[in-house]
Amino acid sequence: LTDTFTLSNGVTIPKIGFGTWQIPDGPETYDSVRTALDAGYRHIDTARAYGNEESVGRAVRDSGVPRDEIFITTKCPAEVKDAEGARHAFERSTALLDLGPVDLYLIHAPWPWSKQGSDHRAGNIEVWKVFEELYEAGRARAIGVSNFEPDDLESLTAATDVMPHANQIRWFVGNTQPETTAWCREHDVLVEGYSPLATGRLLDNGDIAAIAEKYGKSVAQVSIRYLLQKDILPLPKSTTPSRIVENADVDFELSPEDVAALDALDAGDR
Ligand code: A2P
Repeated sequence: LTDTFTLSNGVTIPKIGFGTWQIPDGPETYDSVRTALDAGYRHIDTARAYGNEESVGRAVRDSGVPRDEIFITTKCPAEVKDAEGARHAFERSTALLDLGPVDLYLIHAPWPWSKQGSDHRAGNIEVWKVFEELYEAGRARAIGVSNFEPDDLESLTAATDVMPHANQIRWFVGNTQPETTAWCREHDVLVEGYSPLATGRLLDNGDIAAIAEKYGKSVAQVSIRYLLQKDILPLPKSTTPSRIVENADVDFELSPEDVAALDALDAGDR
């Protein structure tokens, strides 16, 4: 939990983040973030769209862990595709979090959720220029994107100055996004994987269970470990205290053969 990846600008980021997608604002978010921090997580991932930034911020402030030991990511809503909207969204998020500068600020998606796949290249460039200002002003220690594919990344980076420091994508056993992952590696963009358990759907996977049994680990632990061995930053989500602890207890090594077996599941039924 204290191991870090280093972003291309030298900022370090704890290797496992606590994901808060789909955790309702209020006691559920507050308690799970407190549990995660008590368990040793030092990286919390939220978003304006999750609606839970206020509880995340309060949990971090109440935890007693120094702010500079915690890495906080939040995201500009996917619907925002203009400069004024981006400035407003950032002010709103930072006010709700009330934690000072954010460690990483992401464009949540290349298109509004209701219009997936639609073309917002110009809008993303406009938003990114605001991100660059926030970065230069020290209000975000790093900036990045989420759900971007190579085309989206190409058009954005061709027209702007700061290369995204991270791209957060849906990444799990059976869904390893090879083209996007390769693009990011080539350009020194850290890949963060959300839904590393496929929002829970991997948990009854017999192939992963057979591997897990050999190590005396759970399917969740093997699935999370797989990301780490691929240099992808996992963002597991849970509101169950025992699982929050379990998901961070992944200090074991999958053999190359078992990693290859997990790789092969990509071509399988998913
Ligand atoms: P819960 O929050 O009720 O504990 P993902 O991280 O891929 O989005 O998956 C999150 C889902 O997986 C949630 O439904 C969460 O349930 C469940 N989950 C998270 N960790 C574990 C675990 N270690 N064992 C079983 N289920 C888990």
